[in-house]
Amino acid sequence: MRIIVCKNYEDMSRAAAKLVASQITLKPDCVLGFATGSTPIGLYKELCAMYGRGEIDFSAVTSFNLDEYYPIRKSNPESYDYFMKDNLFSKVNIPSENIHIPDGETEVPEIECLNYEKVIESCGGIDLQILGIGVNGHIGFNEPDINLSTKTHVTELSQSTIDANSRFFDSEDEVPRKAITMGVSTILKSKKIVLLASGKNKHAVIKELLDEKVNTNVPATLLNVHRDVTIICDEEAYYGDDI
Ligand code: PGA
Repeated sequence: MRIIVCKNYEDMSRAAAKLVASQITLKPDCVLGFATGSTPIGLYKELCAMYGRGEIDFSAVTSFNLDEYYPIRKSNPESYDYFMKDNLFSKVNIPSENIHIPDGETEVPEIECLNYEKVIESCGGIDLQILGIGVNGHIGFNEPDINLSTKTHVTELSQSTIDANSRFFDSEDEVPRKAITMGVSTILKSKKIVLLASGKNKHAVIKELLDEKVNTNVPATLLNVHRDVTIICDEEAYYGDDI
């Protein structure tokens, strides 16, 4: 596992954007895995700026998002569908038919999950997966548990995630209780993984991730079995109160 410690959130976002841009330069028709949440917003802003300057071209890129609340309307500003359009897809030239986000509107989520796996496979797998990390160690919506699901599945959100994400909704009651998420092996099958973390509240979980142990109660620690993971974090996430 490689770690890049950046001075602050802006530097972290720029470093991540450089890695994504290099991936696109190396393989213009690459498959990118995108994440949502507050952490990657700066990365998407930077990618939009690079696209605006003619430094990257998304015309042959395919994308898969990690997860989506379930159920949720795509028109809901808190849906990840809306988030991705707002922060990235409406501002760069990625073809809409190349974009994949689990369908929060489906009436048959189990079929949606099976199809999602199949489409990832048929595109040749994910070249570079971007991840955030929950304060509870979740990746995607793979919440701490004794058993983790390996493939894309419907999951119940943990109370800690409901609490953490209630800041995006008018009230905690409005946070959907379920989600469709890639499973841990869907994520681990990605050829490269870049995990972003910013802020003191991520310090404890980053420390645990760097402890080189695997513990399903901190799902991100499973990344220790992958051979190409880069953590990009800011000094607050890395040092916590010791800055
Ligand atoms: P955050 O969420 O970026 O909003 O902190 C990360 C996550 O829950 O994976």
